Amino acid sequence: MQMPNLLEAKKRTNNSVKTTNYHLDSKYQKLGQNKTYFIKTYGCQMNEHDTENIKAILEQMAFKETDVMENADLILLNTCAIRENAHNKVFGMIGRIKHLKASKPNIIVGMCGCMVQEESVALEIKDKYKWLDIVFGTHNIHELPKVLYESLKNKRLELEVYSIEGDIVENMPVKRDSKYKAWVNIMYGCDKFCTYCIVPYTRGKQRSRAKEDIINEVKELIKDGYKEVTLLGQNVNAYGKDLNAGYDMSDLLKETAETGIARVRFITSHPWDFTDKMIDVIAKYPNIMPYIHLPIQSGSDRILKLMGRRYTKETYIDLFNKIKKNIPNCAITTDIIVGFPGETRKDFEETLDVVNTCKFDSAFTFIFSAREGTPAAKMKDETLLEEKEKRLYELNALINKYAKEANDKYLNKVVPVLLEGISDKNSSMLMGYTDTMKLVNVKAPKDQIGQIVKVKITDVKTWSMDGEIANE
Ligand code: 5AD
Ligand code: SF4
Repeated sequence: MQMPNLLEAKKRTNNSVKTTNYHLDSKYQKLGQNKTYFIKTYGCQMNEHDTENIKAILEQMAFKETDVMENADLILLNTCAIRENAHNKVFGMIGRIKHLKASKPNIIVGMCGCMVQEESVALEIKDKYKWLDIVFGTHNIHELPKVLYESLKNKRLELEVYSIEGDIVENMPVKRDSKYKAWVNIMYGCDKFCTYCIVPYTRGKQRSRAKEDIINEVKELIKDGYKEVTLLGQNVNAYGKDLNAGYDMSDLLKETAETGIARVRFITSHPWDFTDKMIDVIAKYPNIMPYIHLPIQSGSDRILKLMGRRYTKETYIDLFNKIKKNIPNCAITTDIIVGFPGETRKDFEETLDVVNTCKFDSAFTFIFSAREGTPAAKMKDETLLEEKEKRLYELNALINKYAKEANDKYLNKVVPVLLEGISDKNSSMLMGYTDTMKLVNVKAPKDQIGQIVKVKITDVKTWSMDGEIANE
C-alpha cells in the first residue's frame, strides 16, 4: 500500500525527469478475458485523455468496453479534485456502486485520478471503503495492470498512490474517443501554485514532453486521418521551461503547425506566460485556430494578488487587446471564480467591469471551493454562500449576454466547421465546431462527418448556432 502525502506532494525537486517506455508484461495480458469494463470520467480534458489511455491499457489486457455500468465486470471512476462538488458527485456514485457490488460481489471496483491523490480522500478510502478493489493515482496510470493483478491475487484493496511524480511514460496505448480530433499531452503538472488550486499537488511538478515525441505523435495522427490536435497541459505556455533547451511554446506551436495538420488548438493558457512570440506564431499560421482560453479568475487586483496570479487587471486587458489586434477574428474565453476569500462587492464589481471591457465569447464561472492543503483554504472567508450564489448568477447573466452578442456576429456568415458526428439536439443534423470553437448544428449529409466544410450560419443562440452547407 502506498498512501499520498500532502507535504511531499508540495515539494519541488530539481531531479531531472526521465522518459521511460510503457510495456505490458505478458503475465497481465489475459487478466480481462471475457470481462467488460466501464469508466466514468469527471473533470477536465487531461482526465478525459487519461481515460483514453486507461481504456487502451484495459483492452490490451483483453477487457471489452461496455457503456452500461450495471453490466460491467470492472467499474472505474476517474475522478476530479478541483472543487468540492466534483468530490461529492464521486462519493454519491460510489454509494450506488456499493449496492451493485452487494448483488454482484465479483465485480471489480476502482478509483483513480486527482481525488485519490488527496491525502484525506486516500485515508477515507482506506478506512471506510475497504470494499473497493483498486485505487491508483495520476502518477502511475501505467501501473494499472500490476495494481489490478495484485488485487485479484490477494483479494483485497490495492491502493497505490504516489505523492511525487515519476518519469514521463511514453508509448502508452490510447483508445481515442474521436476519429477526427485528438488530445496530445505536451506537459504534465503545474508549478504555478495559484493559492486556490489543488492541481500542483495532485498532478505534481511541471514536466514537458520532449518535442520530438510530441511532433511524432502529431505526424502519426495525420497518417491516421486526424484533422485536429489540441495540445494539452495545465499551463501550456510554460512548455519547455523545465527542459532549458531554448525551445518554448511558440516554437512548439510553429513546428506543430508545420506538420500540416488541418487544425491546431491548445489549452490552457496562463496570462503570465503568454508571449508576443506566441501571438506572432498564432497569427502567422492559418492552421493554428483563432481561439484562446485565457483564464482571468478575477478582475480585482487585490484578489488577483491573494490568488497568486502574478498579473493585474490592467496587464490582462493589455494582453487581451494585443491578441485581439494581432489575431484577426480571435475568440477569447475565460474562467472566473467568484467568492474567493475576502472578495467584497467592490472586488466583484471589478470583475464585472473586466467582463464589460473584454466581452468574452464565453466563460466558465465557479464559486470558490476551499481545497484542503491550499493556502486559500486557510484564508478568512466571511461572505455567505447565498451572497456568492447571487454574484455567480449576476455574473452569468452578463457572460451570457456577451456570449449571445459574440454569436450574433456570425449570422449569415460562412465559417469553416469540422463535422464531428450526429447532433445531440437533432438526430437529422450533424454537429461540429468553427475555427473559433463555436458549436454549430449543421444540415449536412452523414458522409461529410470528419470533413472541414464551409457552413452558412442561419440561426444563432447563446450556446450554439444552426447552419447549412454553404453554396460556394
Ligand atoms: N474553487 C473554484 N474554482 C476553482 N478552479 C480551480 N480551483 C478552484 C477552486 N478551488 C477553477 C479555475 C480554473 C478552472 C479549471 O477551475 O477557474 O481555471
Ligand atoms: Fe491551478 Fe494556477 Fe496551475 Fe492553473 S496555473 S493548474 S489555476 S495552479
